[in-house]
Amino acid sequence: MSIRIDIISAVPQLLTSPLTESILKRAQERGLADIRVHDLRSYAHDKHRTVDHPPYGGGAGMILKPEPLFECIEALKAERTYDEVIYVTADGERFDQRSANRLSLLSNIIILCGHYKGIDERVRQALVTRELSIGDYVLTGGELAAAVITDAVVRLIPGVINDGESALTDSFQDGLLDAPSYTRPPEFRGMTVPEVLLGGNHAAIAAWRDEQRRTKTEQRRKDLLP
Ligand code: ADE
Repeated sequence: MSIRIDIISAVPQLLTSPLTESILKRAQERGLADIRVHDLRSYAHDKHRTVDHPPYGGGAGMILKPEPLFECIEALKAERTYDEVIYVTADGERFDQRSANRLSLLSNIIILCGHYKGIDERVRQALVTRELSIGDYVLTGGELAAAVITDAVVRLIPGVINDGESALTDSFQDGLLDAPSYTRPPEFRGMTVPEVLLGGNHAAIAAWRDEQRRTKTEQRRKDLLP
C-alpha cells in the first residue's frame, strides 16, 4: 500500500522541511509515500506570475485566482484519478484522527493551500471535494495545515513507522489519550519510573497503561469518553 499526495501552493518553500526530513523522508525513500509539491506560480502566464488578486467587492487580503488553480489541478487529473481534492481552510470540516485514518486508505490525494483570505469560490465549487480545518484558529496560509495533514496520514501507512503496533496505540486511535512513557535511567534527579514498568509482567503493564489512559482522558478530555 502506498499513497500519493500532490500539494499545490503559492509558497512551496514553506513545505520543504516538514516533508523531507525524518519519518516522512524515510517513507518516501521506501516507496510508501510519494509527496509532490507544485508551485502555483508555474501555472501563471503573465510576466509577474500573478496568482492572486484583491477580492471583488472590496475587503482586506488577497484571493488566489481561479485560472492557475484550475490549470494545475486539471494537469494532475489528466495523469491519474484522484480520490479527493482537499482544500485546507479554517472554515472546513474539522480534521481529526478519524479523518487521518480515512485518508490513509486512499491512493491519490490533492491538497490545495490557500492564502489566509482564501481562494476564488469557483475553485471550491467546481474542483474541491473536501474542505478540512486543522483547528479553530487562523493561519497565514494553508501550507502548515497541509503539512500537518500529510504527516498524520503518511505515518499511518503500514511500514512507515517501524513498530507496527506504534500507530495503533497512539492517543485518539481508540478514543483515549496515551499513557505516560519512560526510558532509561530508572531514577533521574530523584524521580523514579513506576515500578510496574521495570518488572516485565506484560499483563500488569497493560493494566497499568489502561488505567493511566482512562485517568488522563477523564482529567483532560472528558469529551472523548463514551
Ligand atoms: N488555513 C488557515 N487557517 C487554517 C486552519 N485552521 N486549518 C486549515 N487551513 C487553514
